[in-house]
Parts: sequence; structure tokens; C-alpha cells
Amino acid sequence: MEMRITKEPAGCWRVLTLSLFWMHLSLSQGHLNQDTMETDVFEPASAFSDLEFGALNTYTGPGNNDTRSNKELPIILWWSASLFPHFPGQTERIDCPRASCLVTKNRKVQLHKRTKSIIFYGTDFRAYEAPLPRLPHQTWALFHEESPMNNYLLSHSPGIRLFNYTATFRRESDYPLSLQWLPSMDYLTGPAVSLQEKNRWRRDGLAPVLYMQSHCDVPSDRDRYVQELMKYIQIDSYGKCLNNKKFPSQRLEDTSTATMEDDEFMSFVSRYKFHLALENGICSDYMTEKLWRPMYQGAVPVYRGSPSVLDWMPNNHSIVLIDDFPSPKDLADFLLSLDQNDTEYLRYLKYKQPGGITNHFLVDSMERREWGVNDMSKPNYLNGFECLVCDRENERQVAERAHKRAPLSMPTPEPRIATNSHMGCPLPTPGYGKVEDLTENDSWMQMWPQDYWQSLDQAEGLEAMILHNETDPGKLWDYMHDMMMKRGRRH
Ligand SMILES: *[C@@H]1O[C@H](CO)[C@@H](O)[C@H](O)[C@H]1NC(C)=O
Ligand SMILES: *[C@@H]1O[C@H](CO)[C@@H](O)[C@H](O)[C@H]1NC(C)=O
Ligand SMILES: *[C@@H]1O[C@H](CO)[C@@H](O)[C@H](O)[C@H]1NC(C)=O
Ligand SMILES: *[C@@H]1O[C@H](CO)[C@@H](O)[C@H](O)[C@H]1NC(C)=O
Ligand SMILES: *[C@@H]1O[C@H](CO)[C@@H](O)[C@H](O)[C@H]1NC(C)=O
Ligand SMILES: *[C@@H]1O[C@H](CO)[C@@H](O)[C@H](O)[C@H]1NC(C)=O
Repeated sequence: MEMRITKEPAGCWRVLTLSLFWMHLSLSQGHLNQDTMETDVFEPASAFSDLEFGALNTYTGPGNNDTRSNKELPIILWWSASLFPHFPGQTERIDCPRASCLVTKNRKVQLHKRTKSIIFYGTDFRAYEAPLPRLPHQTWALFHEESPMNNYLLSHSPGIRLFNYTATFRRESDYPLSLQWLPSMDYLTGPAVSLQEKNRWRRDGLAPVLYMQSHCDVPSDRDRYVQELMKYIQIDSYGKCLNNKKFPSQRLEDTSTATMEDDEFMSFVSRYKFHLALENGICSDYMTEKLWRPMYQGAVPVYRGSPSVLDWMPNNHSIVLIDDFPSPKDLADFLLSLDQNDTEYLRYLKYKQPGGITNHFLVDSMERREWGVNDMSKPNYLNGFECLVCDRENERQVAERAHKRAPLSMPTPEPRIATNSHMGCPLPTPGYGKVEDLTENDSWMQMWPQDYWQSLDQAEGLEAMILHNETDPGKLWDYMHDMMMKRGRRH
């Protein structure tokens, strides 16, 4: 299943895709809960009158000893309904490792006293649509596995610290998704096209380097770099960006945009020795299929993306880092030398040999990971994260009650607040050259640095709205305007 998310506050429209294959995995064969609602325990009563709590499906988690009825459980609201990881229905009881919760996508429970947490999807979180007023008894949870470019608001302190719990691509987040594009360790050790065969393709005119990108105007500004690199080494570029080559068949042409996992398509691209792998946004631990897929195919990724990517590699000689080279020409010369030297080239594929994976951090991280990718035997990460939130909220409730009973001996629970280390992506910089060298009408220049700083203004505006107990998020622009006026007066 593919979801498309389009609206951007700055008025530019972007189309992004998210594979939500795991949404179908959600288990719903649990026992039915025959629990009648007492509408008078809810406030406002009308909010719940049409919520069907009579017969809920139960997500069968690892099990717990929670014997409370549904009407006693904390409620977690998925503000981004499209991600709600349960079918069918809009409310469900979840039994998590420590305790249980009700999860719902019905926004009518927003102001309810039992609604303890709201989960947001980073890509569609908008300051001008945030649930206000922000209630002191409610935590906010952020799920964001996608590119930093989807919402730079989250990359600024005032944006990320709105949230109490996070699941992001950063290893520092509460529920890290850094390895979301690596299905298993076996994925890395799959067979590669033999070098003999690759060399044969080279002699038949295939370029040493493949580029395939159809999303061109991105914050990492990758095309500007690739365009320069093209001056010094032959690159076959099939996508919409910098296109210079057609696929050999219409079928491949269609497949390349439909599904990248197609066998014919995979065997076609794996003929190339090097794949240019530049992420659309630069951020620590943001790594995608652009990195892992060439490794599966046995091509060497020529990578720019997460600055800490080497921490995750199977060994320390498995990818070529673009930023290790002072210039595109130096990189081209290096790739050409590997193209000429089979021994040197094959050193980059040593991780496919027995014992070739030497990075314990990678191996341990994969072993510790509780969620699976396309793996029916493991929970998906949406269910995993909602259970983390559920367990923490139940823990908090217990601690708060204990404090109420014995204020002197039991301290109030410490607040949990996300920090920049949970996202914190840097200001986009040009893919090649310096900002000073770009013309004012440069389209990247006009889009991304502005988007980045405007997102900071919006984060500060939302923070101010929360501080003022604002109830109408649509007033964001007024708050931003006031802040700018005040700033102006200070200078
Ligand atoms: C549930 O109760 C059993 C027996 O009282 C105990 O052994 C087990 O650890 C409990 N499980 C949880 C998740 O609390
Ligand atoms: C890379 O691995 C080699 C052995 O495989 C080792 O000698 C070297 O110290 C490693 N370098 C780094 C930076 O980890
Ligand atoms: C390939 O590189 C090795 C060093 O790893 C070197 O000894 C050898 O001479 C090179 N071969 C060619 C053809 O340049
Ligand atoms: C949640 O985060 C907010 C800051 O955004 C903070 O004021 C609040 O105390 C936190 N709540 C909990 C329960 O940690
Ligand atoms: C952008 O500005 C430069 C001068 O700074 C000019 O030469 C060029 O034609 C302009 N391009 C567009 C598309 O307006
Ligand atoms: C916001 O509401 C809280 C109580 O919920 C109150 O203590 C605080 O003074 C209010 N702030 C403003 C600016 O009205």
C-alpha cells in the first residue's frame, strides 16, 4: 500500500511515498471485549457517544497481567489517522508488555481526561493544525521514519521538544528506526553478479556508474554534484533527473517507477559496478534503500547521506564515501582506478564472504531490534511504538498516583522531553560548491534554506501558542507575526 502526502505550508507541493506494507500485518484475531461504555465517565460526554467500545478487536501483544476493563484504560489518540495500525474499526484495545491501553483514531477524544497521549506522524504534522489547547496531562509522541525534508520543523529545538516520546531514524530516539531499510543480515550476503560478467557489460558499453533518480529538487541538492561528476566519469542516468539513457525495454521503464523489487529490474541494475546513492536529505542515521539495495545487489554504493553511516556498515571497507574526496574529479579518478583493478574492487564486496561482516554494532542492533520488515513473525514498528507509549503512560499514571498518595516520600515523575538528538538535521547546503556561488534565482536556493528557517519560525509560533493556552491553531500566523514584530523592535 502506498500513501501519498502532499500539502506543504510554504505552498510548494511535494509527493512522497511511504510503503505501508506492514499495516496489513496487524493482528486482529484476539478475543472480543464485551465491555459496555458508561458514557458519564467521559467528558465531554458527547464526544464518545458514537465510539463503539462494545466489541473491540484486541491487538495481541506479548501479553500482560492487566485485568482492567476497557473503560479504565488510558487512551492513546493517533492524530494521523492514516497510520492507525489496526484494521478494521477505529478503536482497539492493545495489550502491551507492561499494561494495556485503548488506541483510537477518533479525534473526538482529543480533550478527554483519559486521553493520555497523542501520536503524530512527522510528515503530516502541521503547526497550524496542532491539537490545541495542549493539555498538561497529555503527552505528545512523534513517529517519523521518513526524510528530514518532509518536515524541517522537527529539526529545530522548539519543534522537537514539543514531543515527549519519539520514534525516528536517529539512534538516540526512544524507539530507533535507523535500520528500517535493512530487512535482515542475510539481505547483505545475497549473491552478486560476478565481476567477470560486470566487466563484460563494461566492455559492451555500460558505464561503470549508475544513477537513477526521479525526485530532483531535494535539499541534499544531489543533482548538482552528480552533474559535475559526470564531467569526469561515464554515468548512466535513467531517472527523470539528469536523464541520459533509456531502459532497454518498456517493461523496465514501467517497472522502475512501479516497484523497485522486480527481479528483472534488479538483475538489470546489478550489472553496474557502482551505484550513486545520495539521500534526499542529509542527517545523522538517515539511511534508506539507496544505501542498502546496492549492497544487496552486490554493487558498491557511492554514498552521501548520514555522516555517521560507517557506524552501520558490515565492515569498514564496503562503501565509497563521496565526502572523502576533495572534488568530483578526485572521486571519478578513484572510481576509474577501481574499475581497472579487480582486486581492489572486490575488496568492497568482502562482506558477502563468510566472516566478512565484522561490525558488532550492526549485528547487535539487528539482534536487539524487536520489529520486523516484511516479517510476519515480528511486530511492525507502528505497533511497537504505540506499545512503548502505552507502557510509558501506564508507568506515569502509577507514579503520579503514588505521588498523590504520599507527596513527601514519592517524587513526581520526571518529565520526558525529546531533544535535538532525536532528529536535529542541519541546514541544507548545496550539493556542490558554496552558497555564495549560487545565483539568487537558483531554484534549490529559493526553496530549501528558506523552508528550513521558516520551519523554525513555525515551531516557535506553535510553542508560543501552547504557552498562551491558545485554542485555535489557525492563529499561528498571528503569533508568528507578533514574534517577528518583537524581534524587529529588539534590533
Ligand atoms: C504476570 O503475572 C505472573 C504471575 O503472577 C508473573 O510471573 C509475570 O511476570 C507477570 N507478567 C507481567 C508482564 O507482569
Ligand atoms: C578497518 O578494518 C581493518 C581490518 O579489517 C582494521 O585493521 C582497521 O583498523 C579498521 N579501521 C577502522 C577505522 O576501523
Ligand atoms: C591492483 O591493486 C593492487 C593493490 O591492491 C596492486 O598490487 C596491483 O598492481 C593493481 N593492479 C593493477 C592492474 O593495477
Ligand atoms: C511533555 O513535554 C512537554 C514539553 O513539550 C513538557 O512540558 C511536559 O512536562 C512533558 N510531559 C511529560 C509527562 O513528560
Ligand atoms: C538567473 O540569474 C542569472 C544572473 O544572476 C541570469 O544570467 C539567468 O538568466 C537567470 N536565470 C533564470 C532562469 O532566470
Ligand atoms: C494557561 O493555563 C494554565 C492552567 O492550565 C495557567 O496556569 C496559565 O497561567 C495559563 N497561561 C496563560 C498565558 O493564560
